[in-house]
Order: sequence, then C-alpha cells, then structure tokens
Amino acid sequence: MAKLKLVHRCSDCGTSFPKWSGRCLSCGAWNSLVEDVEGPDESHATLAAGLALVPPGEATPIGDVSSHESDPVPTGIGELDRVLGGGLVPGSVTLLGGEPGIGKSTLLLQLLAGATGPSLYVTAEESAQQVRLRADRLGAVSPSLWLLPEMSMPNIIAAIDKISPSLVVIDSIQTVVDPELGSAPGSVVQVRGCAHRLVQEAKRRNVSIVIVGHVTKEGGLAGPRVLEHVVDTVLSFEGERHNALRLLRASKHRFGANNELGLFEMTETGLQGVPDASQLFLTDRRTGVPGSVVVPTIEGQRPLLVELQTLTNPVNSGVPARRSAQGVDHGRLSMLLAVLERRARVSLAAHEVYASVVGGVKLGEPAADLGLCLALVSAITNVPLPADLVVIGEVGLAGEVRQVGHLGQRLNEAARLGFSQAIVPASAPDINVGCTIRRASTLNEALALAGLTTNG
Ligand code: TYD
Ligand code: MG
Repeated sequence: MAKLKLVHRCSDCGTSFPKWSGRCLSCGAWNSLVEDVEGPDESHATLAAGLALVPPGEATPIGDVSSHESDPVPTGIGELDRVLGGGLVPGSVTLLGGEPGIGKSTLLLQLLAGATGPSLYVTAEESAQQVRLRADRLGAVSPSLWLLPEMSMPNIIAAIDKISPSLVVIDSIQTVVDPELGSAPGSVVQVRGCAHRLVQEAKRRNVSIVIVGHVTKEGGLAGPRVLEHVVDTVLSFEGERHNALRLLRASKHRFGANNELGLFEMTETGLQGVPDASQLFLTDRRTGVPGSVVVPTIEGQRPLLVELQTLTNPVNSGVPARRSAQGVDHGRLSMLLAVLERRARVSLAAHEVYASVVGGVKLGEPAADLGLCLALVSAITNVPLPADLVVIGEVGLAGEVRQVGHLGQRLNEAARLGFSQAIVPASAPDINVGCTIRRASTLNEALALAGLTTNG
C-alpha cells in the first residue's frame, strides 16, 4: 500500500500545500485550506487511469462535426425542461446542488421514473428500502428503474456496464469513493476524482449523469470549485423549508440560456410544477396593509408578480437602527434609504427597517427599486398602497425614475392577474395593455401618484 502523507488542500482550486496558511497561495482564496491525505504520486496515477479511458482524439474539419449529438431529450418534467432548455443532453453531466431536505432526491427519483429506457439510481446515502418507500409514495416504481445502494466507484461503473442505462443519478458525490484515490469520502481529492471519472464515463457511453452535491452553510457547493468546471450544467434547488415552493435555477449551462427559473411545489405526492407562479405568489396576499407592494419582475424569460413587504419601527435614538433584507439586496436597500432621505425627505434613520420578498424569491433587478421605495414610504406613513396597483422602475441617485426592460411583458402579466393600474417610468415607450398607466419621472412624482404625501 502506498504511503500516505498529510497535506493541506485548497477547497476552491484543489492545490495542495505541505503547510497550512490562511490564504491559498495558488488562487488567493481565504480560509480555504483543509487537511487531506495524498498518495506519493496520486495525481499522476489518477491522470493516467483517466486518460486510458478516453479514446485518442482526432482533428476533424468543423463542418464535418455532427451537431446532432447535443439535442436535448425532454425529461417529461416541464419545469426541469424549461431550466435545461428542452431536456438532458445525452453524454452530459449535471450537478444538482441544494440544502439537505430541500427535495433533490425526490426530484431525481421522479426524473428517473419518467426516463425513456433503463435508468439507474445510485443511492450512497439512503438504503434501497428507504428509496423504495419514497418511490411508492411518488408513484415512481417503474420497471425500467434500477436501484443500486453503493458507495464504491468501481462497483458503480460495473453496474453501468451491466444495465447500460440512458440516465444515471449519483446521490451524492460526497458519499461515493474511489478506493484508488486513497482519501476519505467527501474529501477534495475524492469529490474531484470521482466527478472526473463520471464525466469520462458519461462522454464515453453517451449517457446522461446527474450528480447530487450538498451545499455548505454559506450556500456554496461543498467540494472544490473544480467540480463546477468539470460538469456541463450546475443546477441549484432552493426554497424555504417551511414553504412548499421550490425554485430551480441553472448557474451554469453549456447547452443554452442559463437564466431560466423552474418552479415546483412540494406536495404529498412529490414535486409538482407550478405553471402559474404569479397566482401562487399572490394567494396569501392581504390587501390594504401599509408597507406592501406588488412588483412585476422578470425571471429568465417569464414575468412574475411578487409581493414585496416592508415594515418600519421607531427605535431609541443613539443606537444604529437595524436593517434587514430578505430577497432584496442589502446594499440596494441602504442606497434607496439614502435616496429617500435626500430626494424625498423621508428619513428612516431612527427606524428599524425590514424588507422581505414573499415566497423566497430573490429580487435581483433594479426594476424593483421604485416598488421598494413606495412600500417603505407606505410603511412609515401608515398609508396602504392601492390594492390594484403595480409599480415598476429603477431609481437613480438623483431620485429620477429610470426605464427598465420587458415593460410590456410585466404589464401584461399584471393585467392578466387583474391589476388595473401601474406606475411606470415617464420615459417608457407607449404601451397598450389592459391597465391604466401612470408615468413618473421622479420618486416624488411616483409618491404623489400612489397617494403618498411626504413633507418633501
Ligand atoms: P428529499 O428529496 O429527501 O431532500 P434532499 O434529497 O434534498 O435532502 O426531500 C425530503 C423532504 O421532502 C422531506 O422533508 C419530506 C418532503 N417530501 C414531501 O413533502 N412529499 C413527498 O412526496 C416526498 C417524497 C418528500
Ligand atoms: Mg437526498
């Protein structure tokens, strides 16, 4: 047996060092070095073993290269296909990340059961019985779905050889081990080595492989960042535990646009796609409450109406007042508070400020600025905004209301859900939709249009 030595390995770039330090000397990441073991010539052996699997490459004129191999195959799960731009590409490797209990195994079991041709579920975390019980509940006991409770890579490869599946799921990459690599399961060496091996197998056999990856407390994918580089697609599954809504996003996708959002609801019988997301987000909305506003946002290609809530609460002067933002960028909230103070004379310095987007959605775009400002003024003045109003616009440092993209789509969605008036940037193009358009060129004009008066 080869002698192992202790090294300190960067969990971001994978470089190993004999000594620990606070910063990786190779990629510059802070606090990323973790203890690991390494065989004397482990990297060479792994590389040689990996290369032996790949047929020798041959240069071909680009016009002769077939582009048909990369046609996606629909998975039958509409919301997943939306995010993947049509389906899974044969020979591709997809990494699905998400917090424990969010529903990764559930989604993949549903995916496997609906696959055309044999599919293989490698469960390295749960027992076959546990998976069977879940499959019963999900109606996923398909005759072409094979179950393999296994952690060892060679045995997994042997099963792929035997069954020749068109789809393989590895649940999870942190619990599988390749004994050749000599390091502990979940270590950087193992995670990276196993992922490389799976990518080679996927390409060689033209089989789609989906790998489950756990996320760390900080929300990043556990294991080296190289994992994200070696796979074709990185999906993240998000949501709040106490809420049934689940959001699926692609942070990397080699085969198409990567900004589509998939929406699911966790039900008694598994994950169900949510075709009308705006409707769902507004179900529990209470109208006539100060501090609340409805904002039409764009997620991927589709418009989504979300409720943005704010709450302000006076605090004793002298202590810095708390600012809390959920689903809204903290820096953006601070900036808008400053703009409100300077341009509209609304001071929230002596108030705690809470802003939250209902349903676990993250409002990343500046188009929500004006809505957030109006909600904040509504909260502090205790005057509710009209129940049938939506607000769209970016707010600049001068207090001006700036244009945003996809205005037609946003307004059509608002009209479809029965909103009859919209405050939009004055510079917006003429638009014919089923709701009354009110134009504002400044924050103060918008406040007046919304029936909010300030002493500014
Ligand atoms: P799971 O898929 O095991 O999550 P992960 O693999 O990401 O850790 O999801 C587990 C949760 O989902 C668990 O809290 C129970 C819930 N659940 C349902 O609500 N309905 C169902 O039909 C299933 C299978 C799970
Ligand atoms: Mg799981």
